[in-house]
Amino acid sequence: MPFADDVRAGLSATPKRLQPKYFYDELGSRLFEAICATPEYYLTRTEAAILEAAADEIAERSRPAVILEFGSGSAVKTRRLLEATLRRGGELTYVPVDISRSALHATEAALRAEYPRLTVAGIEADYPEALARLGARGAGTAGLRTLVLFLGSNIGNFDPPAALEFLGAIRNLVVEGDTLLLGTDLKKDRHILEAAYNDALGITAAFNLNLLVRINRQLGGRFDVRRFRHRAEYDEDRRCINMYLESMTDQRVRIDGLPLDVALAAGETIHTESSYKFSLADVEHMASRTGFAVETMWTDEREYFACSLLRAAPHGTPQRAR
Ligand code: AVJ
Repeated sequence: MPFADDVRAGLSATPKRLQPKYFYDELGSRLFEAICATPEYYLTRTEAAILEAAADEIAERSRPAVILEFGSGSAVKTRRLLEATLRRGGELTYVPVDISRSALHATEAALRAEYPRLTVAGIEADYPEALARLGARGAGTAGLRTLVLFLGSNIGNFDPPAALEFLGAIRNLVVEGDTLLLGTDLKKDRHILEAAYNDALGITAAFNLNLLVRINRQLGGRFDVRRFRHRAEYDEDRRCINMYLESMTDQRVRIDGLPLDVALAAGETIHTESSYKFSLADVEHMASRTGFAVETMWTDEREYFACSLLRAAPHGTPQRAR
């Protein structure tokens, strides 16, 4: 079982770590939705406003028959793009990819009910598995004009080389002229960033601690969540938020299902997530390195967040060296 193997490896490593994709069990997906509604987490509502204003132009420029979304979640923001595309007429298939079965099924059912003309064909998988499945079925898109969505700064969970690798894999999935809409959280004052990951209601803390609850439930763990605290800090040099679960005492924790005994010292951390932040130049650089050309970038007036429409360039296009 991959979850068991990854937990064993991550909690046996130095420093200890767990992968952020495991946040999204049923409760984790709901807690993430709640994070998006906190006053401090500006990302979602800023991106939603950008998409609201740009939806018609995005639909016009991309003219998709297929919209493929990685990390679709509740797909609240996506609805504006689906509507703008459906307004243009023609057939439209929406392919949401999400690791959370509960979130995916709820989103599929809601969209089918809301948009009778829309074909919905979700994929329950993590990103590597989804890429493999889509690639195996022939670009996933069978000659249909495709718009790929990678919103919410989900790309921020990748370290820089992995981000390039993922965008390159998307480029290989689509054909020249297809488009990718990429949402990126922008570099800004650390206090604003740190507040977004340390909301006053403690929802982000609950989201982070829920990883331990999930290990308890699915792997027979004996974590006492009260002996851990949530931490989130901005690393100015690497330009990312790092999230940790910090042990508040010296403790040994048994995980019966592995089986494994985890020793933690007071103050020791388990790294659970990195969220990289970008400049507009970073986005251009990633695009040109992975076979895309930036067509349009939209930001809000505070320049907190950006949505970039990238167009797949011909294969073998000379890449600008920077
Ligand atoms: C879904 C990865 C974009 O990094 O901001 C929110 C996840 N973690 N609060 C992010 C998250 C803590 C989120 N992403």
